[in-house]
Amino acid sequence: MAATSQDAGGSPRPDRNLALELVRVTEAAALAAARWVGRGDKIAADQAAVDAMRFVLDSVSMDGMVVIGEGEKDEAPMLYNGERIGDGSTPVVDIAVDPLEGTRLCALGMPSALAVIALAERGTMFDPGPCVYMEKIAGGEEIADLLDLDRPLLETLKLIAERKGGSVGDVTVVMLDRPRHEEAMRQVREAGGRIRLITDGDVSAALLAVSDRSPVDLLWGIGGTPEGVISAAALKSMGGQLLGRLWPRDDGERRAALDAGYDLDRILTCDELCSGEDVFFSATGVTDGDVLQGVRYRGPGATTESLVMRSRSGTVRRIHARHDRAKLRQIIGERYG
Ligand code: FBP
Repeated sequence: MAATSQDAGGSPRPDRNLALELVRVTEAAALAAARWVGRGDKIAADQAAVDAMRFVLDSVSMDGMVVIGEGEKDEAPMLYNGERIGDGSTPVVDIAVDPLEGTRLCALGMPSALAVIALAERGTMFDPGPCVYMEKIAGGEEIADLLDLDRPLLETLKLIAERKGGSVGDVTVVMLDRPRHEEAMRQVREAGGRIRLITDGDVSAALLAVSDRSPVDLLWGIGGTPEGVISAAALKSMGGQLLGRLWPRDDGERRAALDAGYDLDRILTCDELCSGEDVFFSATGVTDGDVLQGVRYRGPGATTESLVMRSRSGTVRRIHARHDRAKLRQIIGERYG
C-alpha cells in the first residue's frame, strides 16, 4: 500500500491507518440498522445499513472497488460488486462489505448481528465468482495446524481435545443450524462433543472461535463465501486460521464455477482468501453478542462497540463510542441519528 515515509533520522513514520476511518463507516451502518432491531423487517434493516455505510464511505479518501458487495449492479443499487468508491486517490484497494451481517438476527432482535467492512490492496481479495457457499473451518493459533476440511469433523475434534489435554466432551464447535449439517451434528453429539448452534452470523462465529478465552474452540460448516472472505480478512490481524473450500449448491453452479476456472477441490487458507499484507477491518455490533456489544440507547444518545484492526501492525482495537443522536441528525439528517 502507500509507502511508509521516514523522519529526518531515516526512521519510518507511522502512516495513515484506514481502519480508524472505517470504524465510522461500520458505526453508521450499525446505528442505522439498530433502529430496525426486533421490528421483523430484515430488508428494511439491511437497506438502512447499506445507505448509511455507503454515505460515510464517501468520506474515505481512496481508490476503492467493491469486490464483495451486495450483489450485481442490476440487483443492488449501492455497494454492488464492481462499484468504485472514493475520490480516486491512494490507496488503491479492494473493499468487502457486509453492512448488516445477520439480517434475520437484527430483524428478530437476536444476538450477534454486525456491520462489517474490510479493505486490502487491489487484487488481493478472493473473488467467489458464482459460488454462494463454502465449507469453512476456523480456530485459534493453538489449533491452527489441526484444521483440515478433508478429515471428518469428529476426528478433528478428537485431535483438538488431545491438544487441550481433555476429551471430546471438553470441546465446543459452533455451527450454523442447517439441515446440511445434521449428520455431522449427530456424530459429534454421539461422541459427547458440544455444539453451539447459531441461526445466522458465521462472521461473528469465526471471530469468536479465534478469540482468546473463547467459549468455543472451532467454527465448522457450510456458510456464505463472502462471509468467509470477510472473516479471513479479520483473521489476518487477529491470528488463528480459517480454511475454506467452495461448495456449489447444484450442478448449474458447479458448471459455472468450473467454466470460470475455479478449482473446486482447492482448500483456501486465510492468506489465499485475502492475500493482502495491509488489511484493514472494522466491525460494529448491532445486537449484543459474545464478540461485540450492540447499539444501546442512553437518553438522547447511543453507544456502539467496534473491533478495529490492521494486519500490517497487528493492532486490534476495541472502540467504544458515544453518539449524540440529536447532533448527528443536524449533520446528516435522519439517516442514522
Ligand atoms: P445475511 O446477513 O445475508 O442474512 O446472512 C447471514 C448468514 O447467516 C451468514 O452469516 C452465513 O454465512 C449465511 O447467512 C448462511 O447462509 P444460509 O442462511 O443460506 O445458510
